[in-house]
Amino acid sequence: MTTPAHLRAALLLGALVALLPACDLEPDVGPATQARCINGDTDPGHDVSYARDIEPMFERTLGGCAKCHDPRAANPVGFTLGGLDLTSYDALLAGGARSGADIVVAGAPCASVLYLKVSAGPPFGERMPRDGPPFLLPDELDLVHDWIAEGARNN
Ligand code: HEC
Repeated sequence: MTTPAHLRAALLLGALVALLPACDLEPDVGPATQARCINGDTDPGHDVSYARDIEPMFERTLGGCAKCHDPRAANPVGFTLGGLDLTSYDALLAGGARSGADIVVAGAPCASVLYLKVSAGPPFGERMPRDGPPFLLPDELDLVHDWIAEGARNN
């Protein structure tokens, strides 16, 4: 025995209507805490320099890092607690207490603790600089990102 066409249509419509509310539900994943990170160079025409673009950010007084990450400072908690010396390229690449070799992963800013710690939603501890705001400006975050994306050279 076959089901009449109009009855089949009604059953199908009923099934579709029953499914409709499910389409409106959003998965409950909570608020976004970390911006989406993409490894690619944001400005391939600009060759970022460690000496010119990156180190001055670490060393400046306002919004910088030296007062906490220069072992010679009066109270360098970024060095004593975080284990990270930001006074030279080699010291930076040696990493900190938690980051170790992941401090800078050449070519992969999204895997580099240095970039993640200065961004919103750091993987552990607080966003750097710890006494911010001010934090790094969007253009400055891009410089750190692209310096790593371009291979994190001592240039
Ligand atoms: C007012 C002090 C202070 C300033 C300024 C500061 N830091 Fe820190 N930093 C800390 C402390 C304390 C820790 C350890 C706790 C933590 O990881 O949140 C730390 C940890 C870190 C770590 C993680 C090290 C590891 O491997 O565990 C990174 C990366 C870092 N800082 C980068 C920076 C950068 C880059 C700047 C400047 C833009 C900066 N910090 C400015 C105090 C500071």
